[in-house]
Amino acid sequence: MPAIAPDDQVFVLTGAGVSAESGIPTFRGVNGLWRNYRIEEVASPRAWHRDPRLVWEFYSMRRQVASAARPNPAHLALAKLEKKLQQRLFLCTQNVDNLHELAGSRQVVHMHGELFKSRCDACSRAPFHDTSTYDPPAGIPRCECGGRIRPHICWFGETPFELDRIFGALNECTVFMAVGTSGVVEPAASFVAHVAGRARTIYVGPEEPANASSFTECHLGKAGEVLPDLLGAF
Ligand code: OAD
Repeated sequence: MPAIAPDDQVFVLTGAGVSAESGIPTFRGVNGLWRNYRIEEVASPRAWHRDPRLVWEFYSMRRQVASAARPNPAHLALAKLEKKLQQRLFLCTQNVDNLHELAGSRQVVHMHGELFKSRCDACSRAPFHDTSTYDPPAGIPRCECGGRIRPHICWFGETPFELDRIFGALNECTVFMAVGTSGVVEPAASFVAHVAGRARTIYVGPEEPANASSFTECHLGKAGEVLPDLLGAF
């Protein structure tokens, strides 16, 4: 891959696959989370109203898994890229874990929220850092206002975070790279089509994503193996 030119703006979109080698399960695929849990029972506003204990059980389990995970070479390669490109890199992740930050990335946009943050479902109190795992029989944690504390996650049927900033960066990028995402969940799945024709579009992952036809380059392999080489050339 040719080096990034001094005026290139790079947009990187990561998905569950970038954290797979750190031991965090992806959503789809053989051992995917959505094989064992039904989205509508654990990750939707309806689920929260119907059975908030089950929702907290699911996110408490995910907090436990994520707190044991460590960044892999793919996260580290992206953190290194930020050091090199600084403001010319826009790192947008669909992941709710904190492995990009643990690897050293400073500017990470979490469009689907953050696993280690919670917020009130009733008042405008700002989301806060929260690593607790809630034992469902102990009840749902409450805010001072009486509202229930929920995970700071974008559930199905909710609007992803920071879309204005994200589309601003997409409009400016000259290189778009997606890593470890199946290309089926909107709006992220359409980012590549949004930039196609005016930016170089690169995919990295072990198999072609559903939106593969919109990419000009596909590098098939595990992110932890492909990215260090690919980004090292930048
Ligand atoms: P998926 O589980 O849909 O897709 C994971 C992708 O990672 C697949 O295409 C795999 O081929 C790829 N993959 C697996 N191992 C990999 C590795 N070692 N290196 C690189 N790629 C690898 O996950 P996402 O596309 O991220 O949303 O899912 C998008 C959204 O759907 C998630 O953010 C989540 C989910 O429902 C919410 O929870 C709102």
